[in-house]
This record gives sequence, C-alpha cells and structure tokens, in this order.
Amino acid sequence: MTHAAITGWGKCLPPAVLTNQDLSTILDTDDEWVVSRTGIRERRISHVGLEELAYVASMRALAAAGVEGSSIDLIVFGTCSHDDQVPNMASGIQARIGAQPAAALDINTACTSFLYGLSIANALIRTGVVRRALVIGAELISPFMDWTDRDVAVLFGDGAAAVVLEATDKEEGVLAEKLGCFGESRDILCVQGMGGRYANHGVLYGVTRWQFEGQEIFKKAVAGMSGACQDTLARLNLKPDDIDLVVPHQANLRIIEAVARKTHVPMERVFVNIHRYGNMSAATVAIALCEAIEEGRVGAGSLLMLPGFGGGLSYSAHVVRWGNRTTALRTSDIELPPNERCALELIQDCLRRKTQASERGTAKQPFAGL
Ligand code: ACO
Repeated sequence: MTHAAITGWGKCLPPAVLTNQDLSTILDTDDEWVVSRTGIRERRISHVGLEELAYVASMRALAAAGVEGSSIDLIVFGTCSHDDQVPNMASGIQARIGAQPAAALDINTACTSFLYGLSIANALIRTGVVRRALVIGAELISPFMDWTDRDVAVLFGDGAAAVVLEATDKEEGVLAEKLGCFGESRDILCVQGMGGRYANHGVLYGVTRWQFEGQEIFKKAVAGMSGACQDTLARLNLKPDDIDLVVPHQANLRIIEAVARKTHVPMERVFVNIHRYGNMSAATVAIALCEAIEEGRVGAGSLLMLPGFGGGLSYSAHVVRWGNRTTALRTSDIELPPNERCALELIQDCLRRKTQASERGTAKQPFAGL
C-alpha cells in the first residue's frame, strides 16, 4: 500500500521581533498580563508579502528533501491571509519554484489550513493521483490586525513553513487523522473586513474588526483538539503513551496544557514554541514541526500527534509516523530581502492606514449594518 512520507521541511520567520514590551507602548497592556494569560513573549512582523515568506520556506523544504521544484506535482497552500484571492497563492509558488505544471490549490480552514492541506496531499498521494507534494502553512496576519484592539493584537504573529511529501511503500507519514468543525459556533471567531461582504461598503481593505469570544474559543479549542486526539488514537488502537511527541497548534499555552492533560500526555512530550512567535495561524504547527526536528525532538520512526484548531471552528488531529530522515539533505541559500525597519515601525504603517481611512470618513463606522 502506498503511503506519503514527510521527507523535507523548511520554515521562514521574518526577522523583526515585536515584544510584549513593544506592544505596551501602543496598547494598554503589559508583559505580565500577556505572558500569564497566553504564554506569549514575542512575535514576528513581516517586512515582505506572504508569497515571499512561503517561497523561502518552500525552497528550504525542497532542499531538506534533496529534490528540485520541477519534481513536485502538487502544491497545497494553507492560509487565510492571501496576498491575492485571484490568482491563488499556490500558483505563485508553483511559478517561482519551477514546478510547472503541478496542481496548485489554496486551502482556508484558518489555523488548521496546513493540517487540512496535509490530509489532502496525503490522500492524493495514497490514491496515486500525485507522487510528490509540497504542503505550505503560511500567514501574514500583521496587515490585517486591528492594532488598536488589545484583546487580539497581542495574540498573533507572521511566519511560514512547508513540508515535502513523497510516495513510499513504507508505513510512514499520516497514519490516521480526524477532521471536524463546530460550524454552529463559527461566529465566536470572526475577522470582519476580509471578504466580499464588505466590498463597496466603505470598508478599506485591511481595516478589520476582530470579533473573538476568547473564553468560548478556549473551551472549544480544548474540546476539539483533545476529542480529535482521542478519536485518532482509538482509530489506530494506540494509547497516549505510544505517542513520542505532540506538536499542537499554539494559540495559548493554557490551551496546550489543557489538551495535554485531557489526552493524558505529559508536557515533557509536548512541543511548545508559542513564547517565541504567538499564534501564526496556518503556519503554527508547520513551524513547530520544523523546530521540533531541528531541536532533535523527532527521532527516526517517532510517532507524532499534531492537534489543530482554528476558525470555522475547525479542528483536527493527525498521527504521523516519522521516517529515517531527521537532518536536512541539503540547505537552501535563498533568503528574505534585508529588513531595515523594526517591528513597531512596520505596524505603524498599518495604524497609519487605519487613521487615514478614519480621517477621510471612509472607515467611519465601517461595519454598521453589515
Ligand atoms: N492586556 C491587558 N488586559 C487585557 C488584554 C491585554 N492584552 N486583553 C484583554 N484584557 C483584559 C480584558 O479587557 C478583561 O478586562 P476586564 O476584566 O476589566 O473586562 C481582562 O483582561 C480579562 O479578559 P478575559 O477575556 O477574561 O481574559 P482570559 O483569561 O479569557 O484571556 C484570552 C483572554 C488570552 C484571549 C483567552 O481567552 C484565550 O486564549 N482564548 C482562546 C485563544 C484565542 O482566542 N485565540 C485566538 C485565535 S483562535 C485559535 O487560534 C484557535
């Protein structure tokens, strides 16, 4: 039977670091509040567009796998913060890595997009439609963030990562997954201003209103991720002790701890990097997986659990059998263009745009009646 091994991985973090202390200069917040409620200490703010972040991550993943872009026959790009809706993001990566005429599709299930993308690529490889796929999780939240709203501005960051999947006869890659959605609760996690509903209603693109019911999201995230983990373990007839490492979505350290408790996995076997990056939505698990490998937490034959949760409210859990490769075959010399500006300067642009819109009256009560 054909399986889909993960043979390459690469991440791209923009260099500008925005600390909690930085945020406290523009918002009524402080490091103690953010760290104690979320575990987040800093996050990255990008000076380039989403495609650039994803391209660098993709080139690093291809190099790690030791393959050329021209050998890829499927690209799945998970994101909810597209540079453009049309043409899609995946086709831009296809053109830049030289993967013509690979199939190229975007997928948006918010924070779980990379994980849903993993399922799609896994299924298409296992059914023989394609043999080698690139799955990307990338997010450029900063231009869409409402930097005047402390409830959400402290939670997110920018980043990208990608993995290469290849057909194999060995029992590697995704062994089982659970995908689901609490659609009836979708309104508790909502970013207004990013869709066609707002076109021609005086809402400037990039001016958003984040409608989050944090405590309800918290409960649903714990229920969704821990339920999906239990379901996936049961499908494979595994016990929590069989899992070598959990690499979860990182929205809040307390959510991660609650999921670990409910799944009966000690925190020593849970990978955490939320303190460095905050929540990077679709990029989160992809980057955490790269760092778990880089830090030697993933061994040959390791059994991994990847729980995810996001807008929708989508949830998921994948059990992945790692192969023999735990070090990159090659490295890529592709880098981001240099950045001259600090993170606060980068987000000042977003604030300025919103202020100008208000002054012109175009963003006055922009969401009234919508
Ligand atoms: N700094 C200081 N105070 C703040 C901040 C801030 N950045 N944000 C909110 N507060 C205040 C609130 O105004 C409130 O004040 P009040 O009591 O005077 O009204 C107080 O802190 C407590 O707010 P709560 O919402 O009760 O805080 P809570 O402990 O629930 O933590 C949080 C909020 C961190 C958002 C939490 O609910 C959470 O993590 N929720 C789920 C994660 C989430 O929503 N992530 C977004 C992405 S979704 C995803 O990826 C799955």
